[in-house]
Amino acid sequence: MSRLVIVSNRVADPNQVHGGLDVCVLDALRKRGGVWFGWNGEIASKESCLEVGYAKLDRLTFVTTPLVERDYDEYYLGFANAALWPVHHYRLDLARFTPESVEGYRRVNERFAEMLAPLLRRDDIVWVQDYHLIPLGAALRARGVANRIGFFLHIPFPPPEVFVATPEHEWLMRAYAEYDLVGFQTKTDHLNFCRFVTECMGGRIVSTDMLQVAGKVFSAGFFPVGIDVDSFAAMADSPDAARHIRRMRKTSAPRIRVIGVDRLDYTKGLPDRLRSFKRLLELYPENRKRAALLQIAPPTREDVQAYAEIRRELEGLSGEINGELGDFDWTPVHYIHRRLSRETLAALYRASRVGLVTPLRDGMNLVAKEYVAAQDGTNPGVLVLSRFAGAAEDLEEALIVNPYDVDDVAHATQRAIAMPLVERIDRHRALLTRLRARDARNWTREFLQALDASRMAVAA
Ligand code: G6P
Repeated sequence: MSRLVIVSNRVADPNQVHGGLDVCVLDALRKRGGVWFGWNGEIASKESCLEVGYAKLDRLTFVTTPLVERDYDEYYLGFANAALWPVHHYRLDLARFTPESVEGYRRVNERFAEMLAPLLRRDDIVWVQDYHLIPLGAALRARGVANRIGFFLHIPFPPPEVFVATPEHEWLMRAYAEYDLVGFQTKTDHLNFCRFVTECMGGRIVSTDMLQVAGKVFSAGFFPVGIDVDSFAAMADSPDAARHIRRMRKTSAPRIRVIGVDRLDYTKGLPDRLRSFKRLLELYPENRKRAALLQIAPPTREDVQAYAEIRRELEGLSGEINGELGDFDWTPVHYIHRRLSRETLAALYRASRVGLVTPLRDGMNLVAKEYVAAQDGTNPGVLVLSRFAGAAEDLEEALIVNPYDVDDVAHATQRAIAMPLVERIDRHRALLTRLRARDARNWTREFLQALDASRMAVAA
């Protein structure tokens, strides 16, 4: 079997896996053997310190490099997270474009290609991940790399009317066309991309999964990311989790726990979520002194202005709600601005009657899937899910809401709280079946199979 080479901005630390995605990428790499290449998360003071680090774990090699401060500012904070991230999440109001950041983005992609190209073997399969590295495939091709190269976009692809606001969008499109296969999370993202190719770039759709643009033919499709259902369910069902839950019930027990877990990102709709919870307590006062929202929101990208603002807003709001509605024996909103372990999260999900996943826009959202997997099938909680999360395209048995409509979310939360056991069990069973049909292993298998097939399709 060919080696798999994964390239992503961040490389997971196998001893400290945080997200569902790291788990499935590591799993695919362990199975086939391969390389994981990317940024080591450190910032070097000078160009001369940009050494490549190697670490081996079984059949897997981690190859990582630091970024110099200027690259961190212009590539990571700049073009990736202050331009591409907001544009792809339909937030042109927050997008900041500067010529330096475009240049920094180009430079880091070129440098990654320069470091990676000599490490590649002829039959390696290269799989590039996410918006930080859209031009990496083209930079590798320019260095003579003829390997199969696939790209997966983990975030949404917006409609072309929004995407064209990105400076250099035509350059980005030509870069996409250098891949053998481009994968998206949802049907909608794939459709938006096809619209961009045909309506703005003079390209054409050759067949359902093949496009032609800028003189290239390449494959594109959607491959919804999933989780490892059984291992997450086992974590939530472990004696450790049970101990955790017992302790929680003894110390802090609100009778109805509503949970939200998100990086503190403006795309996650956190202020609106808190307002919806307040609205729930106003519309359905029987929940006062009984229900509490536990919002876990670990810090992220704090050097980007918009992220510092969302933190202030959330802290203000949770203080305001607790001050206005709380009592000496009841705190309506518990806000934790720290990262918790996956084991603790699994226990918290299981102990929560409602999972509130209400992003304003999200590529997929694996928290929604983990919340479902963690439930006790004989007494499951209910998922309230934003229609703007990629996961909503599939998870139909969740209570689907409009996160901008505070009353809609409040009513759905009440419906979840009051839902009879039989209906909860039915919905949970149906959701679990969906999770299993599109789990982490299927995601890697289907993408890699499609990548394998892509060249043959072009040749035919
Ligand atoms: C999203 C992106 C990932 C990114 C993660 C954490 O899920 O799609 O590519 O790694 O956020 O963000 P960070 O900026 O900390 O890497």
